[in-house]
Amino acid sequence: MQEPSRHAPLVERAAASAAAIVARTPGHAAARKAALGKALRKAQESAAKSPLDEPFLPRDRASALIQAAMDQRVRHAEATAADALGGTEFLFSNADPLWATVLGSLIAKWLTRDAAPISDPVRTQPIAIEDEAHVALFSDWGTGRPPALAVAHEITKRDVGYLIHLGDIYYAGTEDEVAERFLSVLPTSTRLKRWFALNANHEMYSGGHAYFDRVLPAAGQPASYFCLENTHWRIIGLDTAHKDQELRKPQVEWLVALVSPSEGRKNILLSHHQLFSCFERTSAKLLNQVAPLLDAGLIHAWFWGHEHKHIVYKKHRGVLARCIGHGAIPANPPPARLSRPEFAVQFVNRRLRPDSLQGVNGFASLRFNGPSLDVEYVDEDGFVSFGENLDREIAQH
Ligand SMILES: [Fe+2]
Repeated sequence: MQEPSRHAPLVERAAASAAAIVARTPGHAAARKAALGKALRKAQESAAKSPLDEPFLPRDRASALIQAAMDQRVRHAEATAADALGGTEFLFSNADPLWATVLGSLIAKWLTRDAAPISDPVRTQPIAIEDEAHVALFSDWGTGRPPALAVAHEITKRDVGYLIHLGDIYYAGTEDEVAERFLSVLPTSTRLKRWFALNANHEMYSGGHAYFDRVLPAAGQPASYFCLENTHWRIIGLDTAHKDQELRKPQVEWLVALVSPSEGRKNILLSHHQLFSCFERTSAKLLNQVAPLLDAGLIHAWFWGHEHKHIVYKKHRGVLARCIGHGAIPANPPPARLSRPEFAVQFVNRRLRPDSLQGVNGFASLRFNGPSLDVEYVDEDGFVSFGENLDREIAQH
């Protein structure tokens, strides 16, 4: 069946009943319960206003936890009793006893502290990779749905040596979601040496616990930020989610120390959140934090996700910025008009999915060969929608 949490009217009903259930649940500090009730009512309002012509995927913690709980409740029922769920009036209502049970875990997640950040200088030492290396970057991919599986299939066909997910495991990065929508469906490769995963807003909606306690150990990744380097390049993964859309102070210090002695290496940053966008308003916090590095010409390229689009920007403040947030989420193709034209674009992927009117999904394939770096942007059907020689682009003013 379709995931119920993709339908705004059902989320609206679920959020409304959740607020009522939370209000009458005993225990927990009154102030925290009140904050949760307020957030749930806001989630209800945003679902009520949401357009019905595309899947519902808001960016707030209460909505994400509601959506995770909805799917958990349906899976639980399918596994146990198979009560004919779709469209019944009582589903996710106050009268739905299973829903109240599942909400217990939602409330607990809301009230629990976030996972502790890691800022250990030993753990974040650069990791050496070969001068000839094939790296796949994919983002906003943790859905476990057919588009994600199609992208994984194309990555698997390319037999890459390294795999880096730029974050977002839906809906709230819970333990179940991490296991089912991410770890069990990751692309495979006979040549795969290591894989890495960045932290993102959806992982943090459940406090980041499954990301820090399950994803990082499975990847053998020592921290939520890291650096891979060879003779000519550094690939630097950042955590822009533990503190939303910015870097925690120890990470800023780590980044400055890492890139300042350039030693002739080119620096490629990876993050979940965007530095800027030609389509939506973006917080300036991250930009302000890295501005001195941009002004010093130390950042050469930056790949990010979060926005569910594929955009290749023209050089901006010395950086070749690429948005690859089109890893799996069904979304309408980007509009023809840029709302922030000051961020000039070279290419915007407006292809449609093979079987729908929604935008195509895809990933980036990076082939490092000494100082040369060829990048191909591959769609879920194997079509290369854009290609570039990144070292040549970096050299051009
Ligand atoms: Fe995101």
